[in-house]
Amino acid sequence: MNTPTLETKRLILRKFTEQDMEALYLILKDEEVNKFLPWYPIKNIEETKKFYEERYASKYAQPQGYAYAICLKEDNFPIGYINVDMEEHHDFGYGLRKEFWHRGIVTEAGKAVVGQVKKDGLAYITATHDKNNPRSGNVMKKVGMRYCYSYEEQWQPKDIPVIFRMYQLNFNGNTDFVVWSVRNVLYTL
Ligand SMILES: CC(C)(COP(=O)(O)OP(=O)(O)OC[C@H]1O[C@@H](n2cnc3c(N)ncnc32)[C@H](O)[C@@H]1OP(=O)(O)O)[C@@H](O)C(=O)NCCC(=O)NCCS
Repeated sequence: MNTPTLETKRLILRKFTEQDMEALYLILKDEEVNKFLPWYPIKNIEETKKFYEERYASKYAQPQGYAYAICLKEDNFPIGYINVDMEEHHDFGYGLRKEFWHRGIVTEAGKAVVGQVKKDGLAYITATHDKNNPRSGNVMKKVGMRYCYSYEEQWQPKDIPVIFRMYQLNFNGNTDFVVWSVRNVLYTL
């Protein structure tokens, strides 16, 4: 199953489609929203289409995946995204247009996506955030993730040193299991 549509009290979580390029552009063009993400703000609809092909359409072509557009129920128009990667880390990531921050929208979406991946049998998810982006860490905590360690990386493509905080949530009952995938761990508190 790939990105099965989910409904919460206020939201529809669904696949992005080719009809959503304007909506996706509004999410990806904002400097502040994209500051802590591994790409530069998108400049036009052409770049948005490329982003969609590389990061969404290609994922939807796989047998399993979780790459959601976050939409309010009232208009089903994407205002953000939330994903769980199918690679080894099962990285959990999200972003939302600034106008919609401070309303609990990503936490509501996150709980639904976590419920779905758990139901589908993933063993765990992980997530990392720049230590200067604590709002993202708050979402991780609110969906039940546990802080594990911090590490430093010369982060690409922006080529800046970043201290990341790594969170994990296990679904297989093994509360101690941690994905130690990086060498440059700085500390665990
Ligand atoms: C990270 C990000 C998604 C967090 O957005 P957010 O709106 O703070 O997330 P939440 O959904 O958890 O909302 C929490 C806020 O909503 C408030 N809230 C209002 N109604 C709420 C409700 N019904 N339920 C829960 N919280 C509610 C909370 O009190 C909290 O308020 P605060 O922002 O004043 O502390 C957002 O900052 C973002 O898009 N950043 C840019 C992209 C990014 O950095 N992504 C992560 C990369 S690692």
